[in-house]
Amino acid sequence: MKTYIVGNWKLNFTVGEASIYLHKLLRKMSNYRDVEVAVAPSTIALQPLSLQVDRHKMKLCAQNAFYRDYGAFTGETSFNQLRGVADYAIIGHSERRYIFGEDDKMIAKKVAAAVRNRISPILCIGETESERAFGETADVIQDQLVSGLMDIAEDDIEKVIVAYEPVWAISSVKAAKLATPDEIAEVVRMIRQILVETYGAEKGEKVPILFGGSVNSSNAGAYLTVPGVNGLLVGGASLILSEFTGIIEVAKRVRS
Ligand code: PGA
Repeated sequence: MKTYIVGNWKLNFTVGEASIYLHKLLRKMSNYRDVEVAVAPSTIALQPLSLQVDRHKMKLCAQNAFYRDYGAFTGETSFNQLRGVADYAIIGHSERRYIFGEDDKMIAKKVAAAVRNRISPILCIGETESERAFGETADVIQDQLVSGLMDIAEDDIEKVIVAYEPVWAISSVKAAKLATPDEIAEVVRMIRQILVETYGAEKGEKVPILFGGSVNSSNAGAYLTVPGVNGLLVGGASLILSEFTGIIEVAKRVRS
């Protein structure tokens, strides 16, 4: 399995800034066989960046899209419109769940819409601080994972990536804490077990599981060597070129 490094730029960078960043990033990158790199710019930057990106070196990821392909949905962009533009799409990010009120039903429809439009969904799941404190982590993971994948055909699981992002470890959350390798390994084990039980060992073992939450170039090595972790979803640190390229270098080292 490849190692995935995905940079989630969130609501940052103008189109011009995004283009300059991509230009610099591409110059520093070569084609790594075992490491798949992607960045997720704002929707408005996806189209121009798709003309600029060298897909042998890296891929583009959408941060969000709507599940219907077209129609009376003012303000939305569909996965259908992103077909051929984005290779991946982040779906179910905690900011979408808690700021924009997306529920598991909507997230399931988005996962299905991405797959239908040949975009690989990166399904984000993770417990909040209080859910963890109340011992609900396993239930939250089970619910978000199973319901997020509810609307896709069994064979389509091979297009899906899962990202474990404990909400309390995301850098923008007040008083964010660093997740420990043991805490991550435990939840990643749960996720793998659910995937294997639901889709069988052959398919369930192949789904990449990423970790996200305050990842930077100094802790990337520790997180990438947590048993069961196949890559990283990076927020804040992906906005700083030297940090992001540092994380890619760590991934290359871990894989060689
Ligand atoms: P962070 O964000 O790396 O800034 O914690 C991760 C994310 O929200 O995907």
